[in-house]
Amino acid sequence: MKKVAIFASGSGTNFDNIMNRIESGVLTNIEVTALYTDQPHASCIQLAKRHHVTVHVYEPKTYASKTDYEQDVLNQLKTENVEWIILAGYMRLIGPTLLQAYEGKILNIHPSLLPKYKGKDAVGQALNSGDTETGSTVHYVDEGMDTGQIIEQRHCPIYREDTHEQLENRIKALEYELYPEVIQKIIQ
Ligand code: GRF
Repeated sequence: MKKVAIFASGSGTNFDNIMNRIESGVLTNIEVTALYTDQPHASCIQLAKRHHVTVHVYEPKTYASKTDYEQDVLNQLKTENVEWIILAGYMRLIGPTLLQAYEGKILNIHPSLLPKYKGKDAVGQALNSGDTETGSTVHYVDEGMDTGQIIEQRHCPIYREDTHEQLENRIKALEYELYPEVIQKIIQ
C-alpha cells in the first residue's frame, strides 16, 4: 500500500471521485491517510467525513510565514508516513519546504491543456480564447504555477454556446477518468 495525502481547497469532487475509485476496488494499492485543506469551511471536508477520511485543516494565515505553515503540514505528513501528495483543487503554490521533502512526488491536475491557461480560472481563459478545444492535464509539481513536467492530458471540445459551467463540467468528466488512471500508473 502506497500512502498518499490529498490536498484540496474547494468542492473536492476530484477527491470524492478518487475515494469512490478506491472504495470500489478500481484504484488499488493506494491508502489515503488524510485530506489536507487550508479552508476550514470547504465542502471537501464533508466529503471526507462521508468517506471516513481524516481531515487536517491548516490555515496559512494563522502562521507567521509560509515556511512555518508548510513545516507543520510536513510534520503531519511524516507522522502519517505519506509517500505521495495528490493536489486536487488545492489553491496554493507549494513552497520549498514541501517541495524539497517530496521532490518528484507531488501530482497536480489542472483544467486546461498546459502550457496553455495556467493559474486561476483556466476554464474561463479557454472559453474567452476562441479555441475550439481544451482539456485537463496531470503534471508533476515544481516551484512554478502549473509549470511542472506534464504526465498526461485529455482533450474535449469547446462549443460556441458553452457556459462556463457547461465547459467546467465537461472538463471535470475528463478529470474523473484521467486522474485515477495516472495515479494508478505513476504511484504504483
Ligand atoms: C479541478 O478542475 C482541477 O483541475 C483544478 O481544480 C478543480 C478542482 O475541482 N485544479 P474539485 O474541487 O475537485 O471539484
